[in-house]
Amino acid sequence: MAQTPVLQVNNLKTHFFTRSGVVKAVDGVDFTLNAGETLGIVGESGSGKSMTALSIMGLVPQPAGKIVEGEILFNGDDLVKKTQAELQQIRGRDICMILQDPMTSLNPVFSVGNQVIETVKQSLAQTGETLKERAIELLHKVKIAAPESRIENFPHQMSGGMRQRVVGAIAIAGSPQILIADEATTSLDATIQYQYLELLKELQRDTGMAIIFITHDMGVVAKMCDRVAVMYAGKVAEIADVRDIFNNPQHPYTEALMKSVPNVEEDVEMLYAIEGQPPALDNLPAGCTFAPRCQYAFDKCEVQFPDIVQIGDDSNRHTATCWKLSEN
Ligand SMILES: Nc1ncnc2c1ncn2[C@@H]1O[C@H](COP(=O)(O)OP(=O)(O)OP(=O)(O)O)[C@@H](O)[C@H]1O
Ligand code: SF4
Ligand SMILES: [Mg+2]
Repeated sequence: MAQTPVLQVNNLKTHFFTRSGVVKAVDGVDFTLNAGETLGIVGESGSGKSMTALSIMGLVPQPAGKIVEGEILFNGDDLVKKTQAELQQIRGRDICMILQDPMTSLNPVFSVGNQVIETVKQSLAQTGETLKERAIELLHKVKIAAPESRIENFPHQMSGGMRQRVVGAIAIAGSPQILIADEATTSLDATIQYQYLELLKELQRDTGMAIIFITHDMGVVAKMCDRVAVMYAGKVAEIADVRDIFNNPQHPYTEALMKSVPNVEEDVEMLYAIEGQPPALDNLPAGCTFAPRCQYAFDKCEVQFPDIVQIGDDSNRHTATCWKLSEN
């Protein structure tokens, strides 16, 4: 039976209107996210991963940034059409985003207890539990030892790993259906990172939430993700089950990425050791945006952007945008 997508992103375009021109940060992104599944988003720096996430959250930087086209269907309801007030409700409860660096998410002048309590207030309206009890319970759930006393701590009195757990507690306070984790910078050491990933998986098993995991680390992708979207210059170049991305990449960019990963088991940043630079997003080439760097490029690639091609017979599980797949 087909799964119901909790999120369906259709032809999403988020552009920035700057003095020097229109920057097409997200330029026609499509993907679906099913309940309980983890979708990884990978791609070079500047490929539009965070802007895709911020578009879903309704947090595109204003006034330069704007969703100019497309739909973001959350349980069938288009978030692009919502008001900021409606989106704020959804953000506090149904869709949450956590950043890798906990210091940017926590307010240094309030105790962690205060910050967790602030977030749970909304979802607690109908229960008899006190806010503090619920906050302690959440800190306990993210495995903070002695949460009854820790709740009085300020962020600077905690270790980096503990702060990360507090951010996790805040994110799950409203039992979100979707959690977006954007780890643009890797500030945690390997052991803490590992424990944190384990925790996220455990919370996912408990709650059934879907996760979007934005990362540069293919080891994290292999460990966490069911499916992977590979982004290039504001578009999804390829999307597939994680094992197909690793073992059967079809888009030349994915293929090059996989060759640049020395060993998935090692804890190394994705190298992106691909010759050349991604195109300027305010001056995209006419044809395939990857053409200047593609070893397979042929005439057509220079003039027309490729169509989406379905790979295999399971509809929409594996798609890639490349002329090589339809013309050869
Ligand atoms: N305020 C802004 N004004 C103009 N362009 C912007 C602005 N913010 C982002 N961009 C553009 O949007 C593009 C996509 O940015 P985004 O933050 O989504 O990249 P990313 O894939 O998350 O990269 P990273 O891996 O470095 O986090 C960037 O190339 C950048 O040029
Ligand atoms: S469309 Fe052409 S240039 Fe683009 S990735 Fe495919 S082969 Fe390479
Ligand atoms: Mg980013």
